Amino acid sequence: MIITPLSDVCGAEVIGFDCGGDIDHKYFQAVQSAFNKHSVLVFRDQHLKPDQHIAFSKCWGDIKGHILTQYLLPGYPELLVVSNKKDDNGDPVGIEDAGRYWHTDVSYESVPPMGSLLYGLEVPCHGGDTLFASQHRAYDNLPQDLRGRVADLTAHHRFNYTQIQAEDGSARKPLTKEQEKQLVGAVHPIVRTHPDTGRKGLYVNPGFTDRVVDMEEGESQKLLDTLFSYATDDAVVYRHRWNVRDLVFWDNRCLMHHATPYPAHSIRHMNRTTVAGSVPV
Ligand code: OGA
Ligand code: MN
Repeated sequence: MIITPLSDVCGAEVIGFDCGGDIDHKYFQAVQSAFNKHSVLVFRDQHLKPDQHIAFSKCWGDIKGHILTQYLLPGYPELLVVSNKKDDNGDPVGIEDAGRYWHTDVSYESVPPMGSLLYGLEVPCHGGDTLFASQHRAYDNLPQDLRGRVADLTAHHRFNYTQIQAEDGSARKPLTKEQEKQLVGAVHPIVRTHPDTGRKGLYVNPGFTDRVVDMEEGESQKLLDTLFSYATDDAVVYRHRWNVRDLVFWDNRCLMHHATPYPAHSIRHMNRTTVAGSVPV
């Protein structure tokens, strides 16, 4: 097994590891420390049936379902479908426009997921890359006074689904009453300490963070915008260009990510599992 960094901020490719096979404890430990070091792991050319994708994900923790139950793979409530394919009735089989903005998965819940594993079953020739931004690096790049200013602040996160759904061209279906009820939002520290490495990182994202707690609205927006400029700076970003059968595993505790567009005529079809995490501190 060989682990090769993909950029100097985050991301590494793991070569010679079969995520669908029996996992040798010794190799798994090496993969675990690579995950803590690089935050995004890319396993190329994996041949994974849904059960194998789920089994490998469970090596990292409990699987979380997703509030958007209409986009789960039939028979596999653990798998969220991220796809622009349509079924025979012309209905989308998955979320077509997942994450087309900087975000951290499900940060609007009080116990957000530790990681997500996205498996590329069909990928476009061009476009549809996924960007990952190291929030450890973003935090390290903050000027000292700003770091001090945000040290003890918290921010509120909420799911902006209704807003995305209302946008022109969105194929998303409205939420059910039951789903809407689950959207209470959450408050998290702006600076989060990684539970496994102890490293600090920014934990706010343009997708779901709407305000700094106990701060006047204008000032809050100004502060968030400043933090976002560090959080999404090109200098902290790794761009993943997908090959078919890539399995990409990322750490939601210290990264943001962003899906990029692709030509409408190409197919992009992926399955995602989400691994449960802990309360951010
Ligand atoms: C996701 C997501 C990005 C992509 O599945 O959580 O944001 O590139 N996907 O599809
Ligand atoms: Mn996402």
